[in-house]
Amino acid sequence: MTRYLIGGDFELSSLSLGSVNNLSDFTHGITGTWTASGRAALTLILKKLKDLGVKLVHVPAFLCDSILLPITELGLDCDFYPVDLKLKSYPDPSPGSAIIVIHYFGWLDESIVQLRAEAGDKYHLIEDMTHAFLSDWSAGPEVSRSIFFTPRKFAPVPFGGWCSSDAVLQAPNNEIESLNYRSIIARMARSMYLEKNQYPVDSDYEEFYLDAFREVEEFLDKYPTYTSVPQIALEIIAGLDWANIAKKRRMNWQCLHELLAGHVEILQPSLPNDVVPLGYIVRLENRDAIRKSMAENRIFCPVHWPSSSVVPSKTFTQAALLSDTCLTLPIDQRYGIDDMTKLADTLKSYL
Ligand SMILES: Cc1ncc(COP(=O)(O)O)c(C=O)c1O
Repeated sequence: MTRYLIGGDFELSSLSLGSVNNLSDFTHGITGTWTASGRAALTLILKKLKDLGVKLVHVPAFLCDSILLPITELGLDCDFYPVDLKLKSYPDPSPGSAIIVIHYFGWLDESIVQLRAEAGDKYHLIEDMTHAFLSDWSAGPEVSRSIFFTPRKFAPVPFGGWCSSDAVLQAPNNEIESLNYRSIIARMARSMYLEKNQYPVDSDYEEFYLDAFREVEEFLDKYPTYTSVPQIALEIIAGLDWANIAKKRRMNWQCLHELLAGHVEILQPSLPNDVVPLGYIVRLENRDAIRKSMAENRIFCPVHWPSSSVVPSKTFTQAALLSDTCLTLPIDQRYGIDDMTKLADTLKSYL
């Protein structure tokens, strides 16, 4: 088997550092704070809301578990609201509470227009733009909301998150600085390894860089509210060509959409001009078996997200079904038409 693969953590082929002054391009001119991760960014928002007397946070039943960590760690209560199989959410925030809305996979949630109109007086609105931070999420200055995201899911970014709350952070500690460097080196090592893609797989080498990626995730799980971010992580974010990243993702999504039309159930029927997708999301009855077979062909497709142990699946049946059947096909900037064709052909062979 050759090293060629599709999916997995982002490699870094070169280190092009940018100026952190350019980071304001991401945030539609809104001021805020750069942090270590998405969950750290959410932490800063929740701390402010807690000081204002908020005790309860409504969260969607279909979610990345990691956003529950800061809620629990800050001693806030959490209540779930339903999401259906079309990813439409049905929020019903109570007076004085906070609500988190996740804009899934790059598309803005349908309920957001109404929520934005009522936010501020009745409840505190928090928008999770992690999947949609390259999509158009602008809104008028009259909208009262907090925003957070991490670019870590879209590019080779070991650490980094942003929220619309202001805060003064301490200098990052030695542990996060050293994990950051290790992750950068591992990403460069992965790039050199994959460049020789006609060579045979070297499991020891793959284990080396996978270990470094795991360590970062372990750190974030262990210290979800640790906020300070290494400067070089932000310079990596500032140095990436995000316009090209957005363009390629949209092209690959469209390409896969044409190749898979009529073969598989999908979640989003079209790609509006202002959306930059995280992945191409399909629903498969025998998702886990197909995912395993794809991995045997070195096509690695993540699951967003496996069932959370704290969401009652009997109450939120459609969210549970999403967790059991959705598969994210990689369409990121590393790939082109040939890769999308291989991906589609491999998937079709297992349908
Ligand atoms: C929608 C969403 N929000 C927030 C997060 C948390 O981001 P981080 O892993 O940077 O803490 C994730 C993580 O996967 C996510 O998918």
